[in-house]
Amino acid sequence: MQLRKENALLTPFTCTWEPEMPDLTSNTGGIISPNPFWLASAPPTNSGEQIQRAFDAGWGGAVWKTLGQPIQNVSSRFGGLNWRGTRAVGFNNIELITDRPLEANFREIYETKKKFPKHAVITSLMVETRAEWKDIIKRAIDAGSDGLELNFGCPHGMCERGMGSAVGQEPAVNQEITSWAVEYSTIPVLSKLTPNVGDINPHGMASQAGGAHGVSLINTIKSIIGVDINTFVPVPAVGNKSSNGGYCGAAVKPIALHMCAQLARNPQFNIPISGIGGISNWKDAVEFMVLGASSVQVCTEVMLRGYRVVEDMIDGLNNYMLEHKFEKLDDFIGKAVPAYDDWGNLDLNYEIVAKIDADACIGCNLCQVACHDGAHQCIHPNPGESFVPVVDEDECVGCNLCQIVCPVDGCITMEPVDNGFAPASWNEHLTEGAVLRPKKGSHG
Ligand SMILES: Cc1cc2nc3c(=O)[nH]c(=O)nc-3n(C[C@H](O)[C@H](O)[C@H](O)COP(=O)(O)O)c2cc1C
Ligand code: SF4
Ligand code: SF4
Repeated sequence: MQLRKENALLTPFTCTWEPEMPDLTSNTGGIISPNPFWLASAPPTNSGEQIQRAFDAGWGGAVWKTLGQPIQNVSSRFGGLNWRGTRAVGFNNIELITDRPLEANFREIYETKKKFPKHAVITSLMVETRAEWKDIIKRAIDAGSDGLELNFGCPHGMCERGMGSAVGQEPAVNQEITSWAVEYSTIPVLSKLTPNVGDINPHGMASQAGGAHGVSLINTIKSIIGVDINTFVPVPAVGNKSSNGGYCGAAVKPIALHMCAQLARNPQFNIPISGIGGISNWKDAVEFMVLGASSVQVCTEVMLRGYRVVEDMIDGLNNYMLEHKFEKLDDFIGKAVPAYDDWGNLDLNYEIVAKIDADACIGCNLCQVACHDGAHQCIHPNPGESFVPVVDEDECVGCNLCQIVCPVDGCITMEPVDNGFAPASWNEHLTEGAVLRPKKGSHG
């Protein structure tokens, strides 16, 4: 007995239990990939050699750099928006579609699919006439593509030639070209939409009406990223001139998320979405997915940091799914869509106020300045010895500004107030006379 006890102490404990890993298999309109992380059509998908390295790094799919009549590119062609010490929070380009021969691209698609039969290769296309669409679609399918993406989004250069966003901005043209592609294609067709529109709904609906199996969004946002104020030439400079480009990268995520959610909550829209725009990590990806995306595509983050960013994306997604006990992607795709509603349906009687954790506060006063100049003048200096400011809860409107500026995570929390009023939205107030709580923070 004694011996057994000693042995038990000496034997190192090895845990053989492993959690059952979630299934990351993704299906976007019939395009299946081992995980939902795809490279977006852009320089990281220029060639077979690159895409094969990306698949080795862990990417589940890749949308090939747009193929069409090869073009001549300019130099320079990229611009970065640096903001308070962080480089390229936004990114801009005036690059066009592929500048490589079509034959080389199709041969490399074939080779890539041969080496990676389970990974998704989606071929992005942009041509002009019906005959050209028919021809290029056949060649893309013959090369072994798993799906097609119709580039209706490029907002520079190609739109001046009647393609790209010039198509994406005209629902009738989008629908017609989508219907040609669907007619000629034996594989799933995604239409890639432009964000350079007021309302994404008619454009998503046009793709659906044309028979698309899904949409991808967003392409880049028409923009000028900056100007050299000494040479008086906007960025990126091509000699002594420049042109408007397409904006992307982390800074565009909010715009892309909104467009994804707008379509996902449209009851008439019922085809899958491949979410794109500012995705830099697993959490960004999950945000797109809970707002309705079946897969996600990444460009700028890979251009800035390389293919290996996908390793953290896969780990983070696995951990998130384990934590929430999600076994497959469908368990959470679209889960946040019902919570995205019109302003008129929000509860006007829901009330929160800011609370400061005195133990966490470092007395920097940022919250006081922000509330005083940018909100409702209800954070005051402490009347005693303490450096911890004081919130006047009777005046606090619960706007969140102080929490946003506070440099200490968790120091300011927004806490609900039981004000005794039943929930009531503006629409309920108008239609049913629901009673609204008295206004706060308007200083009489
Ligand atoms: C340099 C560059 C070239 C691009 N080329 C294409 C292209 O050929 N076809 C296309 O559909 N989108 C193209 N895009 C747009 C991306 O695929 C993607 O929609 C956009 O960059 C938003 O994603 P991100 O924020 O992850 O970069 C390009 C983007 C960049 C930065
Ligand atoms: S939530 Fe808004 S109003 Fe309230 S204290 Fe903070 S900044 Fe001021
Ligand atoms: S911003 Fe945060 S840390 Fe700074 S004084 Fe206000 S509560 Fe304290």
